[in-house]
Amino acid sequence: MINGYDRMKNWLWIIGLFFVLSLHAEDGHRLWLRMERNAIPADVRLAEGMGRTAILDIASRELKDFWKGEGRVLLCVSKGGATRDGFTIRKKGQDMELSSASDRGVLYAAYDLLRRQQTGDLLSDGAVVAEMPSYDIRILNHWDNPDGTVERGYAGRSIWKWDELPETVSPLYEEYARANASIGINAVVLNNVNAKPQMLSTGMLRKVAVIADVLRPYGIRTYLSVNFASPKALGELPTADPLDADVQRWWKKKTKEIYRLIPDFGGFLVKANSEGEPGPQDYGRTHADGANMLADILAPHGGVVMWRAFVYQASSPDRACQAYEEFMPFDGQFRENVIVQVKNGPIDFQPREPFSPLFGAMQHTQVMPEFQITQEYLGQSIHTVFLPTMWKACLDAETYRDGGGTVVEVTQHRVGIHSRSAMAGVANIGDVVNWTGSDMAQANWYAFGRLCWNTELSAAQIAEEFLKQTFSADEHFVEPVRQLLLRSWDTAVSYMMPLGLHHIFAFGHHYGPEPWCAPPNTRPDWLPKYYHRADSIGIGFDRTVRGSKAVLQYCEPLATLYGNLETCPEEYLLWFHHVPWEYVMRNGLTLWDNLCYIYNSGVEDAWEFVDLWQKAQPYIDTERYEAMLMRFERQARDAEWWRDACLLYFQMYSRRPIPADCPPPIHKLDDLMKYRLHIDNYTAADMDKLP
Ligand code: GCU
Repeated sequence: MINGYDRMKNWLWIIGLFFVLSLHAEDGHRLWLRMERNAIPADVRLAEGMGRTAILDIASRELKDFWKGEGRVLLCVSKGGATRDGFTIRKKGQDMELSSASDRGVLYAAYDLLRRQQTGDLLSDGAVVAEMPSYDIRILNHWDNPDGTVERGYAGRSIWKWDELPETVSPLYEEYARANASIGINAVVLNNVNAKPQMLSTGMLRKVAVIADVLRPYGIRTYLSVNFASPKALGELPTADPLDADVQRWWKKKTKEIYRLIPDFGGFLVKANSEGEPGPQDYGRTHADGANMLADILAPHGGVVMWRAFVYQASSPDRACQAYEEFMPFDGQFRENVIVQVKNGPIDFQPREPFSPLFGAMQHTQVMPEFQITQEYLGQSIHTVFLPTMWKACLDAETYRDGGGTVVEVTQHRVGIHSRSAMAGVANIGDVVNWTGSDMAQANWYAFGRLCWNTELSAAQIAEEFLKQTFSADEHFVEPVRQLLLRSWDTAVSYMMPLGLHHIFAFGHHYGPEPWCAPPNTRPDWLPKYYHRADSIGIGFDRTVRGSKAVLQYCEPLATLYGNLETCPEEYLLWFHHVPWEYVMRNGLTLWDNLCYIYNSGVEDAWEFVDLWQKAQPYIDTERYEAMLMRFERQARDAEWWRDACLLYFQMYSRRPIPADCPPPIHKLDDLMKYRLHIDNYTAADMDKLP
């Protein structure tokens, strides 16, 4: 018989066991930072005569806690050392010397050393490593709203807990700062580009200051997106005209207030006269008037203005032309502390776009690339798409501007003596336990930081670093999964929008396919038909000299190359040309047949990913294995959904059969056209609701 005492004992056992198991459950929260803590701290010292700083304290704490080397580690901030966050590591016998001209550089050196330890990339005796970041400002853009929602966020709610601040400081802030510092990110815009004026209220700024205080010791500067109409929207002035003296006085006072609270405040990010946001054009002024007004006010404080070139009007015959048309007239008229922030492609973070022509065209303005880490248009937190392959395709593209230069080279180049180079990424971070929704999406956060730090790193190197630190260093795991990651962008493009197709997404949430979508009273440039232009003759957007002339925004020889059907890279074919269904592609197939084969190869690859992932099971924990398996399976089914929706719909125009050796569609077009995904932010919890 079990008496009361025994029963209680049994229960205690069960609770204890549950507690122990839950301690060991893998939840992805530790990201790529999985070093084992030392039982005895490593021997880490500051060079003689050097004073402590908050940043050096962190560098030294990290090394004491996690560095396993035998010898001594000496941290050294030296005047003659590397500048701009760069650092040198020297191995002398068992000892290491980490030096930089700034304490931030020493912190990056510390993380570099720890990364080498984790990935097995150890230094030999006498080795010297010298690193210099590719960009001065390596910045995450959060699209987080004051109400805790995240625009295009697929990982829960915002990590910024505005309701609790300034009193309660979530431990997430410091963990977030540490993760960023470990990959070289040194700047953060806390709030959405669709900025609420209330962000600049004194109450909010006090909260912002608390976050800035947590980020600062990790070398991270805080920036804010601002609503251009703030002086008016906050009810303090009747206008927000940038040339109005009262408006200028308002911004001056507000800026002073910000710097009193946050002495190292980075500056403003502005989305103006875009998608309904206010801007200088509301008062007959120009982008240059607006940006320069803010720049002049920030300059004495050392702040910058990141002014976005993401603009397009419903009336424009080709949305892809708009940014160039609006910004080129002002090339050379922006202040030195203005950086024009340009999305990688001319439309909007599509699965594949040619690089934005502004990179080659704006020669007298500091321009910075903006990438989207959050996968708004690439399967959100469900599909695995490793983005550095896509980012590198843009960064490494030759612009052919005067004297030549890749996108990296032209954006790294400093236009004025005080100007700074920068690269931005729209964050994929939220308050779910694994930060990014999908465990594999952490790879894109990691990769963004590493790539801003060193644009010469290959996607393969970054993938390997990430996998080894985050999942397992076992070759049997790393090699196949690295290959999977490297193929994943091409695969997603193949099953979503091959050959230069773009923007054929479901309305609003952008998760699934809806090439037919046409809700009444909607701006034409928000509808798929505007982009794919399928008809009985062919498909694609004519942007040649006979069409919208967008090709002319590129420097020669690109304008001719893209503008000629025979020489246009096939991956951009339907971006630049309206191509007949019977057009014969370079592989001898007709466009229609080729389209069918490419969609199918995307589906095949996606199923192969499921298979590859199943083979990876023995090397990793069950929790992340299961969570990712569910996603890979859904991704493959989504690939079928995409293929069937697009091919069956376009077939109404092509009137050609799907080649006999392609598997037949598994969905009916009618069913897919009736289907509505009634959610804004699609997450794993909704997976079963999909076709
Ligand atoms: C996309 C996105 C919007 C976002 C906009 C921007 O259009 O769908 O949510 O506001 O880009 O970058 O400003």
